Amino acid sequence: MRNTSRRKKILIAGGAGFVGSNLVRECLTQGHKVDCVDSLITGESANLAPLLTNQDFRFIHGDIADTGIASRLQRERYSEIYNLACPTGVPNIAVLGEEMMIASSTGTLNLLRVAEQSRARYLFASTAEVYGNPEKFPQSEDYSGNVDPVGLRSPYEEGKRFGEAATAYYARRYGVDARIVRIFNTYGPFMSKNDQRVIPQMLTRALNQLPLTMYGDGSQTRSFLNVRDLIDGFALVMNQHCEGEVYNIGGETEITIAELAAEILRATGSRSEVVRKPHFIADHDRRLPDTRKIRALGWAPKTSLATGLKQSIKHMQMTPGYSVARQNGQNPATTRTDHSVAA
Ligand SMILES: NC(=O)c1ccc[n+]([C@@H]2O[C@H](COP(=O)([O-])OP(=O)(O)OC[C@H]3O[C@@H](n4cnc5c(N)ncnc54)[C@H](O)[C@@H]3O)[C@@H](O)[C@H]2O)c1
Repeated sequence: MRNTSRRKKILIAGGAGFVGSNLVRECLTQGHKVDCVDSLITGESANLAPLLTNQDFRFIHGDIADTGIASRLQRERYSEIYNLACPTGVPNIAVLGEEMMIASSTGTLNLLRVAEQSRARYLFASTAEVYGNPEKFPQSEDYSGNVDPVGLRSPYEEGKRFGEAATAYYARRYGVDARIVRIFNTYGPFMSKNDQRVIPQMLTRALNQLPLTMYGDGSQTRSFLNVRDLIDGFALVMNQHCEGEVYNIGGETEITIAELAAEILRATGSRSEVVRKPHFIADHDRRLPDTRKIRALGWAPKTSLATGLKQSIKHMQMTPGYSVARQNGQNPATTRTDHSVAA
């Protein structure tokens, strides 16, 4: 039964995206009122279409960096703000780098001002990409990373680092109850069919009996987390009073890309072959979160990769248009598979 005694009004920026549309659903299921602001640059209105008749839900089509949108949001009173709004996907960095930097800087500052005025709890969705090409394993929150400020990935990485700096500053200077979550590779229902990240790309190709592309020899490792476990982590950190604290949230089990391809072929029953190609953009060999800080709040990942893949496949199969034609559509991203973390 819904608990409406602690009903909150929540703003989710980037709620039409993969993580956001899962979060919107969870907040509505908990009985809260939800406003979602999204420019739809990488998100999809279809992710939210069934919710548009829900009286507790409101969709605002707009850019968080836009002054008109910022003033509109400032007139509201929110108890929680989740800032997930940023274009994602490593191949998109080449074409949407400016939008990534603007969303993470001007957009983030705008939402921090809304949080300050509303006295809302604020969560900034950062990324493992702030660790760059790490020299320390696993990466703990106090590791300042190894980022090339002019590297090919820097618009996303440095944008997120600015967003973190702004969040920490607003917590110190204006007392905003703010937290930063560094998200590692996450997958699950509502991944976009245009998403070039490794799991959605490989799943879509496997389901269409197309070859899976593996860059390099496939020995680079990643750890994957189901979106359900990520959202459990969000709830735990949102329930803590924070003064700009940082939390890693990510999968704890490393798997090589070659092993992942095999797992995906198993899970889909596909006969696709795996084709090797040279790396296309400063790929990172390895990424692994130190999760002790979020675990101390009682968090633990609950969904195995095998179960999570099954759920993702089921959702893809139920989604109209998970076809090759859509996959090769007009998305600004290239069609290269992204083995990386940038989301
Ligand atoms: N999914 C992951 O594995 C992962 C990993 C690390 C970090 N993250 C971060 O989590 C957040 C959500 O990621 P996702 O995987 O759901 O990506 P996504 O691309 O599916 O969602 C991002 C959403 O933000 C919207 N958006 C972008 N710029 C905007 C702007 N200026 N104003 C309003 N809306 C805007 C997009 O249209 C999209 O709906 C992102 O900030 C991303 O950087 C995700």
